[in-house]
Amino acid sequence: MNSLYNRDIISIGDLSKDEIQAVLSQAAEYEQRLARGERHALGQVLQNRLLATVFYEPSTRTRLSFESAMNRLGGRVLSVAEAKTSSSAAKGETIYDSGRMLEGYADVIVQRHPAIGSARALADAAGVPVINAGDGAGEHPTQALLDLYTIQREGAGGMQGAQLRALDGLHVAMIGDLKNGRTVHSLSKALSHWKVDLTYVAPPELAMPRDVVSFVTGRGATVHESDKLSDALQSADIVYVTRIQQERFNTVEEYMKYKGVYVVNAAVVAQAKPGVAIMHPLPRVDEIATDVDQLPNAAYFRQARNGVFVRMALLSMVLGAV
Ligand code: CP
Repeated sequence: MNSLYNRDIISIGDLSKDEIQAVLSQAAEYEQRLARGERHALGQVLQNRLLATVFYEPSTRTRLSFESAMNRLGGRVLSVAEAKTSSSAAKGETIYDSGRMLEGYADVIVQRHPAIGSARALADAAGVPVINAGDGAGEHPTQALLDLYTIQREGAGGMQGAQLRALDGLHVAMIGDLKNGRTVHSLSKALSHWKVDLTYVAPPELAMPRDVVSFVTGRGATVHESDKLSDALQSADIVYVTRIQQERFNTVEEYMKYKGVYVVNAAVVAQAKPGVAIMHPLPRVDEIATDVDQLPNAAYFRQARNGVFVRMALLSMVLGAV
């Protein structure tokens, strides 16, 4: 049995390098099988298995790609898209009690919640695997997996190709609200399994949390920090842009101080290393101009699509189908 069988996926730090590579390999296999039209065979993999998606915060990609993944593998989905208002959380039910209920309804639970630590709290209560789909400004481990998959798949020409890019030796720049953006926390930790250079570009007030910097430097990553976009462009192979996380600010005025602080447009991309891949977990607000969308370097829509293959892999591994 694979080592992720029956496991909770709460932090990317819980997965070894081998386990991450196993997920990426399985995702590649599913992508190839879908491309070959093996829909019927794939639809047998998780037949009669049930996924519950419980989202207390908005989502397009994470919830729908998990549900797409489960459906493509023949499983079924129970979904609460607005759990804050339409589940019994609105009546005061605790995460613990929700977990004790959901374990009887589904074989695996995917939860998004605004509180750091909420995924761990659910996993402690539920007797079925829990996958963290984002816990506030904490982590987003499945986004990190699809980001790694995308980085490997984006060739040096900025297009998705058959040749996998090596992760050792990569220079990855992360730009934006690195304090509140959970995707960059998880991606940094995931990348630190390899020999990478990381450049963090953020206003000082929105810098990468010190515990994440300590984690990655402790594993041997080189970290450079700056508040200038130009510092991200000089030699980066990957420019990973994030939005300013409006929902984590106490007031609109506070958010407006940072909105629009960095904008990557086609002119900016032209100054970057040739073949740079521009990534973004999405949704974007204004930090990547639409004139980037037509460039071969724009990887973010391919990145979102890759989420289906990676989540197919993760669901089938956690449920012991591979
Ligand atoms: N990247 C991501 O988590 O997108 P959603 O918020 O739409 O799920």
